[in-house]
Amino acid sequence: MNPSWMPAPFDYLRLSVTNRCQLSCTYCRPQHHAPPRRLLSARKLVALCEAMCVVAPIRKIRLSGGEPLLRPDLVELVAGLAKLPTKPEITLTTNGVLLEEVAEGLAAAGLSRINVHVDTADPTAYARWTAMPALDRVLRGLAAARAAGFRHTKINAVMTSALDASAVRRLLVLAGDNEAILRFIELMPMGLDGRAYERLFLPADLGLQRISEAADLTRADADASPHRRYLAALPDARRVMVEMITPMSRPFCASCSRVRLTCDGKLLPCLLSPVRMSVLGEDGSLPDLPALGGLLHRCASLKRRTMTGLCERMWAVGG
Ligand code: 5AD
Repeated sequence: MNPSWMPAPFDYLRLSVTNRCQLSCTYCRPQHHAPPRRLLSARKLVALCEAMCVVAPIRKIRLSGGEPLLRPDLVELVAGLAKLPTKPEITLTTNGVLLEEVAEGLAAAGLSRINVHVDTADPTAYARWTAMPALDRVLRGLAAARAAGFRHTKINAVMTSALDASAVRRLLVLAGDNEAILRFIELMPMGLDGRAYERLFLPADLGLQRISEAADLTRADADASPHRRYLAALPDARRVMVEMITPMSRPFCASCSRVRLTCDGKLLPCLLSPVRMSVLGEDGSLPDLPALGGLLHRCASLKRRTMTGLCERMWAVGG
């Protein structure tokens, strides 16, 4: 089909498939605030994504949450998305707690890469931080993902003031053991009151200092990514790719081409926007393509080019 309208500029769709999560990370805590939302069915999400891929040049869809693996139909959803005619890459961000059970199914369904959220590789600190003693399950999930054939897995660790050289060392070993890329993410001011945020925030330059106390770093930004990359040498000579995601100290809003869709069918121009655009009709019907194209253009025009304002909590919009 040849659309007679200009495609919306988005090339990356982040799909929050649920706002529930079984963890209660200190800076997030969905179940303390979130009434569970009415989830769109896998079939409806696939139809919506198919239409979005026609009206925008979307080449990648990342499934996030909440915790996406809490959806029993996630494999079905991945399978439907992986078969879309425009062949977007399908990726997942998960806390890894339930990954062991579904890693193989996800690989077979056509998922191409996984990011696993692990702020600390110390079991006691993990249990304290997330209110769930689940680090061993996450580790089994990471191993299962590798056994299922996933490569270039990323471990997402939000940097907080608790990050010291020993915490870094443990995370580096975890990444090394799983042949994963370790990404340190600056804490964004979401889901926290100002005092707690101030106490927890660790700027990337200080984070980098702590990382370099734990390992020798060599700069390695090979691609056009807005994120700094380093190769970290472990004492046993293994090397781990470290990526710094710095939304606070080096915001990348100006080059962002993401659009977000929530589990109940709302479009967001960005994480920090209060805008929620309903995509479906009141009877739950899909819009026709020109209407959806128009909606996406409106959404693109509401995108901010600098990082300002406060965001709804992260679990509701999918990180
Ligand atoms: N600041 C920065 N990153 C966050 N994430 C969740 N909450 C925050 C926050 N307040 C990240 C986690 C998760 C991803 C979806 O979003 O790293 O992996």
